[in-house]
Amino acid sequence: MLKLPGLIDPHVHLREPGATHKEDYDSGTSAALAGGITMVLAMPNTRPPIFDAETLDLALTAAKGKARCDYAQFLGAGPNNGDWDKNKGLPQRAAGLKMYLDSTFGELRLDDMTLWMPHFETFPKELPIVAHSESRSMASAILFAAIYDRPVHIAHISLKEEVLLIKAARERGIQVTCEVCPHHLFLTKEVPPPTLRATSPNFAEIGGGLGGGRAEVRPRLATQEDVDSLWANLDVIDCFATDHAPHTVEEKDSDNPPPGFPGLETILPLLLTAVSEKRLSLDALIEKMHTNPKRIFNLPDQPETWVEVDEKAIYEIKAADQFTRCGWTPFEGWKVKGKVRKVVLRGQTAFEDGRILVPAGYGIDIRQEIS
Ligand code: NCD
Ligand code: ZN
Repeated sequence: MLKLPGLIDPHVHLREPGATHKEDYDSGTSAALAGGITMVLAMPNTRPPIFDAETLDLALTAAKGKARCDYAQFLGAGPNNGDWDKNKGLPQRAAGLKMYLDSTFGELRLDDMTLWMPHFETFPKELPIVAHSESRSMASAILFAAIYDRPVHIAHISLKEEVLLIKAARERGIQVTCEVCPHHLFLTKEVPPPTLRATSPNFAEIGGGLGGGRAEVRPRLATQEDVDSLWANLDVIDCFATDHAPHTVEEKDSDNPPPGFPGLETILPLLLTAVSEKRLSLDALIEKMHTNPKRIFNLPDQPETWVEVDEKAIYEIKAADQFTRCGWTPFEGWKVKGKVRKVVLRGQTAFEDGRILVPAGYGIDIRQEIS
């Protein structure tokens, strides 16, 4: 048995309020525990989006009754909530600020850079700003970090140009950190696995690349060259995050498929498989799923918390075994090595051999209850 610290996922979509048929605080945090994750930071692109005291309360009330692992909830940057000085104390109750600067799912999107400015000016510097940005909008977000002299965390990088630019920015002292998702490390647009191909209504038409609703994700799957570059520059990548973005299998296979992959239950087995293949060290895994997210997002210790993994167990990933409500996984049928056996969270066995053992409401809001 391998013992890991409680793992942290700084990027999950739990769909509550507004789309609980896809996921809610209960099913999403159960999926987290089953995946060896003891703390999640929830994204604000819900319905309604989370962007002020009233909507934050809505999400936190749901979370308080339902969450099984620990959590914090992000606020979203909108066109009209940029003056955080007017909302003293509100940022401190949130995981941080999420800014949607590029193509995404939901209503929170800031195209005009004049809308970015007040957020960068007034959001407290000790709390993270996370930017959903790609390629040139990522370069803009890094420039904002330099101009306003504050840290920015770039969500889900996927391209060679992104990892290289972050490396260069950091060498010049700009406070930029980043995360990468397993699907951008293990999948390419050129050869999507059968799960993403077989169901694609227009796969042939598109020419075998990004066909079909199941393959839709933002940022899009990239080329083999991009994927190779992420692996080659793992030392530049601060965190592994899932961007767990569950949409039901019916929605994914419909004519208007929303982008997003579930990921909470597959991140650790995929990365442990990479460890067993010596593509990643165990130390780097722990650093990117525990130590670094804790530092970057200013997260507290979870006392008496650990994950027990059978690192020799080989098994097949199956959507049918998962706790997420979405009913599918892009990694269906993949053989992985490394299985979560047991999760202990704040002294209680929260998950053991496929079963969740803590009640809904056991999880705590780490911005309120631990400091
Ligand atoms: C996310 C979702 O579904 O909420 N989808 C995705 O493809 N990553 C939205 C987002 O993070 O852009
Ligand atoms: Zn996301």
